[in-house]
Amino acid sequence: MLQLVVFGSNRGSNYEAILQSIEQKRLSAAVVCMITNNPQARMIAISQKHGIPAHVCDSEPEIISVLANYEYDLIALAGYMKILSKKLIVAVGKPIINIHPSLLPSFKGLHPQRQALEYGVKYTGCTVHVVTPDVDSGRILGQRIVSVFPDDTVESLSTRILQEEHELYSSVLMEIAQGDSLKI
Ligand code: GRF
Repeated sequence: MLQLVVFGSNRGSNYEAILQSIEQKRLSAAVVCMITNNPQARMIAISQKHGIPAHVCDSEPEIISVLANYEYDLIALAGYMKILSKKLIVAVGKPIINIHPSLLPSFKGLHPQRQALEYGVKYTGCTVHVVTPDVDSGRILGQRIVSVFPDDTVESLSTRILQEEHELYSSVLMEIAQGDSLKI
């Protein structure tokens, strides 16, 4: 069974979707702990509800020392709003993946839904990719396409992309759990 550590900073809807897939036995995995940089993150309450240890870490050395207490296969970033340093990525030495609300390599970084609207693209979406020291640039593991409508706002587009994110993240994790190789 795939042992996951989830990192996040705020709302945690992707985290909840992953936990739901696990609880419905669609995803053969377990979340061994959740790490956040935000003591107010809703992800802490979600963790408590599901009996998962939650750790608030202010610094990368703290993250490394928390991780040393767990056996895990993979770190899944789900709305983690800090950039991981190359030093941390190397120190972890295990795959780290992330979900981003655009069709990478378009619209990296912050506010990708706004970037998509400003650019006028007709299709955007979401991407699960391997985390590397270059932000939003690692190998793409899965994508979902979302149409952009003429009357879309950042909020309406973000909502539709998020629905696809929830399905995409679990489906990529299912492929990994079924033994698809994941190179770092
Ligand atoms: C998602 O749109 C994710 O793609 C981005 O941050 C948002 C997190 O939402 N990286 P949530 O915390 O999973 O609800």
